[in-house]
Amino acid sequence: MHSPQTIFDYSELKAKVKNTKLARLVAVVPDTFLAQINHGDFPAWKQVLDALPELSPQSFELDQELRVGSAEQLNDAGRGDLKNLLLGLQPWRKGPINLFGLDIDTEWHSDWKWDRLKNKISSLSGRKVLDVGCGNGYHCWRMAGAGAELVIGVDPHLLFSMQYWAIRHFLKEPSVYVLPLSLEAVPDKLEAFDTVFSMGVLYHRRSPIDHLYALKDCLRKGGELVLETLVIEGERGMSLVPEERYARMPNVWFLPTCATLESWLLKAGYKNIRLIDVAVTSVDEQRSTQWMKFESLPQALNKQDPSITIEGLPAPKRAIFIAEK
Ligand SMILES: C[S@@+](CC[C@H](N)C(=O)[O-])C[C@H]1O[C@@H](n2cnc3c(N)ncnc32)[C@H](O)[C@@H]1O
Repeated sequence: MHSPQTIFDYSELKAKVKNTKLARLVAVVPDTFLAQINHGDFPAWKQVLDALPELSPQSFELDQELRVGSAEQLNDAGRGDLKNLLLGLQPWRKGPINLFGLDIDTEWHSDWKWDRLKNKISSLSGRKVLDVGCGNGYHCWRMAGAGAELVIGVDPHLLFSMQYWAIRHFLKEPSVYVLPLSLEAVPDKLEAFDTVFSMGVLYHRRSPIDHLYALKDCLRKGGELVLETLVIEGERGMSLVPEERYARMPNVWFLPTCATLESWLLKAGYKNIRLIDVAVTSVDEQRSTQWMKFESLPQALNKQDPSITIEGLPAPKRAIFIAEK
């Protein structure tokens, strides 16, 4: 059984960062966080975590994929039980994740995003990394696989933290932690991370330039920002502000052109700004699955012309920039 102290227990991380700049960040999550949760679905999610089997993976892989244990460690019936349990933590958006031969086929092929950037960023080897808006922490595990010394993800969505703890239940060793926080809760002027990722978050911010400043505050001098966001085609200075929804999403504020985004990064004081990837999101990369049964990208695109959304706006295209503090 999973002891209640284990979920949202950051004492190990606290000990690790004691007397460092990161102590201020971890202190934001109160020791009593678990007792304070009043989310209506929490008891059901907690039941899932409490019922997870005690299994120690004989091996795991974080570099090439996120795999924990092997199919040999669990029989079909055990895998069926694990699947039924984990389906109780739906929707699973970021992955894919393989647990003891169980393939969690998530909404997103998040591995494709990782493949697009992993060889173009500074080596993560030995680095302290922050992943802002990390979801269930999928990319955090991959960052650890790429050699990061410590990875801290922050995401305010409680369910995604529960998914992280479900993986953490089996994978106890690596230095990967997801904190149930928004970037706005991260203390000012932390200047503690060697690399900061913000992927899929900027367009959800009403003040995108403030977001770039806040990310900069988390970086040490000379540290690297990896920024991924939705962009549109067009000139420097242009950006799209959807009047209502964008690709069915109600909370999308600014979609700049690549040149505009570069100018925002310059304005926020970043140096050595480089565009490392632009990719149109395909319906193979983001789609509904049995682990995410809601509508997804295919339903957000115009059926006759998939180059536009159902709102008549340019279909999702994402750019990845790196920049230095
Ligand atoms: C589109 S998902 C991107 C997840 C992941 N970074 C990726 O690229 O696949 C955006 C995530 O950002 C989180 N988020 C939204 N606003 C945030 C904020 N102010 N601070 C931190 N995370 C935020 C959401 O809860 C969500 O999990």
